[in-house]
Amino acid sequence: MAIYQLNVNGKEHQVEADADTPILWVLRDHIGLLGTKYGCGIAQCGACTIHLEDSAVRSCSLPISSVGDKPITTIEGLSEKASHPLQNAWREYDVPQCGYCQAGQIMNAAAFLKNNPNPSNGEIESAMNGNLCRCGTYNRIKAAIQAAVKNS
Ligand code: FES
Ligand code: FES
Repeated sequence: MAIYQLNVNGKEHQVEADADTPILWVLRDHIGLLGTKYGCGIAQCGACTIHLEDSAVRSCSLPISSVGDKPITTIEGLSEKASHPLQNAWREYDVPQCGYCQAGQIMNAAAFLKNNPNPSNGEIESAMNGNLCRCGTYNRIKAAIQAAVKNS
């Protein structure tokens, strides 16, 4: 066990954990942020996507020891009062079905749009390709991202 200092959603947290503890479990079990979901645990589904600095990463496969002083953002910290253009578009297009994958979808899309604010439809498709949705909400996800691009 070691002590780690983490910056999560703009707040400092001190966490005692084994070096190989995935940051997903640190967020959920130590810090109590339950918006980030566990799907596969092997970096294959995207349900656990968070931001490390400005990049989307899969928190199930990111050990706490590799975070260093880079800030972490989870779905809870993406915006004030869930007002990110993607979150507005998600509501407008009523995207979620069961909802389980959706935090990961939004976090992946948010990092993508930050780096590519005016993407083509093909770029949106390939950026979102690795985020799985068992409920098949892919068309609404795509439509909502296109709307967020227009409205930002
Ligand atoms: S739970 Fe992390 S990618 Fe599936
Ligand atoms: S909304 Fe159910 S898994 Fe995506």
